[in-house]
Amino acid sequence: MKHLNIFLGCLAAQATSAKELTSPRSLGAETWTVTNEHGNITVPGKFPSHVHLDLYAAQVINDPNHGLNDIDLRWISAQNWTYTSKPISGLNKDKGVSTWLVFDGLDTYSTIKLCDEIVATTDNQFKQWHFDVTSVLNSCKTDPSISINFGAVPAIINKLNASGIETWPPDVVYPFEYPNRQFVRKEANDFGWDWGPAFIPTGPWREGRIVQLRDGEAYSLNTNVDIYRKGQVNNLAPDQTQPWVVNASIDYIGKLPKQHSMHAIITDATDKSKVLYSGQLNAIKRSNATISGSVVIDGHKPQLWWPNGMGKQPLYSIQISVGCGAKEPSLVSQRRIGFRTILLNTGNVTQEQISRGYQPGNNWHFQINGHEFYAKGANMIPPDAFWPRVTNERMSRMFDSVEAQNFNMLRIWSSGAYLPDFIYDLADERGILLWSEFEFSDSLYPDYPDFVQSVTDELYYNVRRINHHPSLACWAGGNEFENLLLPIAKRVDPERYPYFLGQYEHLFISVMFTVLAENSRSISYTPSSANNGWTKIDFSLPVPMVERYDNKTQGDLYGNTDYYNYDSSVAFDWAEYPVGRFAVEFGYHSMPSLETWKEALDPEDMHFNSTVITLRNHHYPAGGVEPNATKGAQGLAEMTLAVERYYPTPNKQDSIANFSSWCHATQLFQADFYKSQIQFYRRGSAMPERQMGSLYWQLNDIWQAPTWAAIEYSGRWKALPYVARHVYKNVIAAPYFNRKTGDLDFWVTSDLWESVTGQLSFRWVDFKGEAIAGNAGMSKSVNFTVPAINSTSVFKTNLGNVTLPDQTDAILLLSLQANGHLPNSNHTTQFTHSNYFLPVWPKDTKFSDPGLKLSADKSTGSFTIEATKGVALYTWLTHPEDVTGFFDDNLFVLLPGEKKHVGFKLQEGTSGNEWMDKVTVGSMWDLSIRD
Ligand SMILES: *[C@@H]1O[C@H](CO)[C@@H](O)[C@H](O)[C@H]1NC(C)=O
Ligand SMILES: *[C@@H]1O[C@H](CO)[C@@H](O)[C@H](O)[C@H]1NC(C)=O
Ligand SMILES: *[C@@H]1O[C@H](CO)[C@@H](O)[C@H](O)[C@H]1NC(C)=O
Ligand SMILES: *[C@@H]1O[C@H](CO)[C@@H](O)[C@H](O)[C@H]1NC(C)=O
Ligand SMILES: *[C@@H]1O[C@H](CO)[C@@H](O)[C@H](O)[C@H]1NC(C)=O
Ligand SMILES: *[C@@H]1O[C@H](CO)[C@@H](O)[C@H](O)[C@H]1NC(C)=O
Repeated sequence: MKHLNIFLGCLAAQATSAKELTSPRSLGAETWTVTNEHGNITVPGKFPSHVHLDLYAAQVINDPNHGLNDIDLRWISAQNWTYTSKPISGLNKDKGVSTWLVFDGLDTYSTIKLCDEIVATTDNQFKQWHFDVTSVLNSCKTDPSISINFGAVPAIINKLNASGIETWPPDVVYPFEYPNRQFVRKEANDFGWDWGPAFIPTGPWREGRIVQLRDGEAYSLNTNVDIYRKGQVNNLAPDQTQPWVVNASIDYIGKLPKQHSMHAIITDATDKSKVLYSGQLNAIKRSNATISGSVVIDGHKPQLWWPNGMGKQPLYSIQISVGCGAKEPSLVSQRRIGFRTILLNTGNVTQEQISRGYQPGNNWHFQINGHEFYAKGANMIPPDAFWPRVTNERMSRMFDSVEAQNFNMLRIWSSGAYLPDFIYDLADERGILLWSEFEFSDSLYPDYPDFVQSVTDELYYNVRRINHHPSLACWAGGNEFENLLLPIAKRVDPERYPYFLGQYEHLFISVMFTVLAENSRSISYTPSSANNGWTKIDFSLPVPMVERYDNKTQGDLYGNTDYYNYDSSVAFDWAEYPVGRFAVEFGYHSMPSLETWKEALDPEDMHFNSTVITLRNHHYPAGGVEPNATKGAQGLAEMTLAVERYYPTPNKQDSIANFSSWCHATQLFQADFYKSQIQFYRRGSAMPERQMGSLYWQLNDIWQAPTWAAIEYSGRWKALPYVARHVYKNVIAAPYFNRKTGDLDFWVTSDLWESVTGQLSFRWVDFKGEAIAGNAGMSKSVNFTVPAINSTSVFKTNLGNVTLPDQTDAILLLSLQANGHLPNSNHTTQFTHSNYFLPVWPKDTKFSDPGLKLSADKSTGSFTIEATKGVALYTWLTHPEDVTGFFDDNLFVLLPGEKKHVGFKLQEGTSGNEWMDKVTVGSMWDLSIRD
């Protein structure tokens, strides 16, 4: 009897779902207008979009990134704006059909009307929203139109603050431009940041759709696929011998048949005929909004996914279907997945590690498929102030630049926005691990019930949405809480500190860690991007992760490090750099190139300290809505001073040429400073701190401005990425010079997983390129062996013992060759690296005109550069504005008589190769010439 019921239930469901509805219907296909609060501006609207973009498209405003628009366009965010669709025809009003509005994102406060009736309000940019509008549609006499009124955010958050719902001492919300951003679940850098504008854009920033369903049909809103080793739990090392568990879960709207089964087909992502699994999912759990099931898969069957440089990135496809038999499912969802375990180990250093030379304390490193590895990369900020114009093509080009720098990781800094899936897709394909964060930053946050509920919903959606991507490396609660904001709170308001700490632990541990652990067993959590790790994890405790904070044992070492020091006089003194387990942020700002400035500035504003540049420089932040030229000038002065200390200072007659040279010179300092730090951090893999990663600040730019970025808004490379790609090679040699004692050590560092042997050669020459007699008393080469992920001192001397006729007329060239194995590869690879050492600062050397010659070979697309008169330092090729891409080498040392061949990765540009004639070459010499 029971069996018969199931059978009938299935048949009935199949019969009704047979008639297809033309669903879902994208809101992007409707016709929209955008109208301001006063009703005197109406322009065509796009969907998805932001108001600024639609006003720009209609030429009501010019490019928001232009000039002082950051300030001049503030009238836009001060108003409500309404997106209204034309009447939507052809919707189905049949009995039994339910109708839903689904929005993948609304930015931020909105009131949604259908057929002039309010159907919902929203208040969180990061949530997906769905509303049942069946009865409103069915009682609508005409074809309905949708209107979405977006509230003026500054007024709303100021009101929340004024309500006294939460009060803080001023210093615990780091001030950029607009105040009170901590009250709203909206991208925090929209309110200003030290590298970005403050547009506070509003609008339907992600896609939306109308979904119509018949009884027995369901529509998938979101799908979570969690892949882990059996028995695995968050934050602890999984047993790599265990089989895989694939746990799939679909959030849906509509009604599934009462009786159902759940199936999965897992195939190779590119070759669907290669089936890894096909069959039932077990342990089905169902509520009225979610259905989940899981299957255990042989641990050896899937190929493992590895990060860039450690192996391949095999991807699989999973199709999950719910229904009566797999024939006509009521609900289907598909995701691309990969098999890997990733651990962020922030627990105690163990006795076993101490016996291997680790300084006691806590760990901070990542392990992929059970292997610890050295993380190389940078911090990514939002690539645009307006997400709707972030395209797959742009991001694909960005990932070219990421791969070319030999990265394996990016930290997706909070507080921008949770990345859309297509960016995780690119990372899955390229093998770039994305250290991901919940969107909270540089502020204490409220924890009143509505806020906590909103955060819970936001995390539930995004954790589940992103979890299937093998590139997901970890989740962090947010930016700089435990190392910056809480200590500030303790200092400025010791009496209320326990209350603030309690709020922090409630939101960032009890709420967030629980949402994560309930939806993912595969991913590690840390409440704060930088901190001293945890001492206990126990979900029966009200605060399930016990943080160490400052409860340290003297002499032990804890935590990862941030390092910003704007006193450029100590920039190359590595005794100043922090010693820690992992460098999560470090940097110094520089100017973008002239070519990038041209996109945003009028010609009269193109000089170093122009008002427009000063006001676009947000380091230091204005600290309020009033433009603050004094603060901006401080940052420009720091950059200037850094150049003056170390490099020839440009002083050209032609003001544009002078401006361009100055911009470039700031990039030289930036590149050298980062190189010095990365060499130091990498060498730390051999030290008691067992330093296991460095992510520089910051990869990319949100607009054209002086910032810490390596890649300019236009996609053009500054000097830094050319240096980063060398210093992030697997095996590198570097000089460590102590200017106080004269001690000069040379180390070879390797991040390979097996020991590597090779030879490092030393070659002293003067600035004419002539060999220095007797190689200045130094041997011409040394042999070395470096153990797995380690560093070896290969030669030690003191500059006093190096017999240089003139320290200002000498450069030491280092050239390394080694043989070894890349991780997961059994054939031998030859590794090369070159580096150099100057006994004095670049500006103090006897550099002279190197007589550079450049020729372009249009048949091969490559360039040949020659120095005909002397040594060229910082040899620099510049490509014209009509192409986007990067050279395969730049900023190199060139000796007379050498011919250097350089290719160009052309990412975008004019057809043909006429642009090659417009490439120019220069060097440090060009900074010093006056014409
Ligand atoms: C629109 O109306 C407001 C309020 O009356 C006014 O301040 C503004 O100048 C008007 N804008 C335009 C473009 O007419
Ligand atoms: C502006 O938006 C807010 C928040 O959505 C709303 O409460 C208010 O009624 C709107 N005002 C106008 C004039 O549209
Ligand atoms: C079922 O759906 C209703 C309406 O969406 C919701 O209020 C309720 O909490 C859901 N129940 C469960 C168990 O999820
Ligand atoms: C970690 O070390 C602390 C002492 O610093 C200790 O109290 C704690 O129990 C240790 N935790 C684990 C999981 O071993
Ligand atoms: C550790 O530090 C926190 C915050 O500073 C404090 O509340 C806690 O009592 C300390 N725990 C121990 C074991 O000292
Ligand atoms: C820019 O202005 C700052 C502050 O006034 C000054 O110190 C610096 O020398 C100027 N820089 C250049 C390149 O003119």
